[in-house]
Amino acid sequence: MADANKTSNLESFGLIGDSEAFHQMMESIRQVAPTQITVLIQGESGTGKEVVARTLHKLSQRNSKPLLTVNCGAIPEGILESELFGHEKGAFTGAVDSRKGYFELAHEGTLFLDEIGEMPLNTQVKLLRVLEEQDFMRVGGNQMVKVDVRVIAATNRDLEGAVNRGEFRKDLFYRLNAVRIHVPSLRERKSDIRDLTLHFADEICRINHIQFHGFTREAFSAMEDYDWPGNIRELRNVVERILILEKGEKADGAMVQRHLKRIGFVVDPALPMIINKSSDQSERELIYRALLDIRIALEDLKTLMISYRPRQIEQYPVAHPADHDGTGINTNQEVVDFTIKNIEKRTIQSALLAHKGNKRKTAKALGIGERTLYRKLKEYDLE
Ligand SMILES: Nc1ncnc2c1ncn2[C@@H]1O[C@H](COP(=O)(O)OP(=O)(O)OP(=O)(O)O)[C@@H](O)[C@H]1O
Ligand SMILES: [Mg+2]
Repeated sequence: MADANKTSNLESFGLIGDSEAFHQMMESIRQVAPTQITVLIQGESGTGKEVVARTLHKLSQRNSKPLLTVNCGAIPEGILESELFGHEKGAFTGAVDSRKGYFELAHEGTLFLDEIGEMPLNTQVKLLRVLEEQDFMRVGGNQMVKVDVRVIAATNRDLEGAVNRGEFRKDLFYRLNAVRIHVPSLRERKSDIRDLTLHFADEICRINHIQFHGFTREAFSAMEDYDWPGNIRELRNVVERILILEKGEKADGAMVQRHLKRIGFVVDPALPMIINKSSDQSERELIYRALLDIRIALEDLKTLMISYRPRQIEQYPVAHPADHDGTGINTNQEVVDFTIKNIEKRTIQSALLAHKGNKRKTAKALGIGERTLYRKLKEYDLE
């Protein structure tokens, strides 16, 4: 009975699982959640780090106060510091007013620093100080601001490796690493695949009003034989594809295999025409398929870019926030390049690396023709 209560509690946090790896993780969560300790959540992409962060906050005494999330990898380096610590009027071009940063906004609550491995070194110095002293200065300010914030950080990078390469500060790493929660990959908790699949199937049926006829035993075996590089997020996407594209038909092993083998980048140009339906309805279905494909492709691309990190990209020159004056050039004459062309070049580099230089696969993965790829390789001097 007590166990049943525990399980339903976890489900209310969006956490499904009964494997040993899952219970070990839950045990750590229960132990550290009520404390003030800074926690580092580590796990591959799509394993549930954000859900874990939310659970830590909900199980803490800060749960009536805000939980704010900052994705350190998504905010351009030049503005991350002022986003986190706020700024005073006139601190840099464009700072027409003084503004509170996330640390002040999260006062008495929790700040979740996602993708902490992407935080620039100079911002790391300031973060370490807040963790130790609970105070900081706004950008362009000259007064210490005191806050009471619990920090939870997450990363899918090997931070130890980043420390060895000089990309992450050792002192901050030790400070964060004091309490580390490992979120297991789906490969480490294959016995949870069945429950997770049924949970997602329920949810997807509810949202899309689908009558689903269930999975065969072979369907589950096929899922358990697969490696799930994109973890739980990938599992959810596969279940969604099967339910929607197969219109609720009973899912057997072959059907699951078909959807697992699919390369998630290209919107299928040979979409079957749906007959016996009004043109409106068919059109809606086709649009839905295309949107679903695009969404999955974006997630695949994110996973790919995270797992295959060419060194040139890691060391890409970026501006120092303190020097940011709107020109994109800092005192070291390094250039911030957010142009579409540069992003395209970097995407092609990543895809090439992911496919070990195979041009045909790279072009397919990028959803462009091989000839276009060759043209772009020449244009960007990537040969
Ligand atoms: N234990 C779980 N039970 C049910 N659903 C889960 C569980 N863990 C994660 N999920 C679901 O899996 C998906 C991915 O989770 P989440 O966004 O937390 O992963 P993440 O590790 O933060 O990924 P990323 O590194 O890409 O940011 C979400 O839809 C989430 O609701
Ligand atoms: Mg996340």
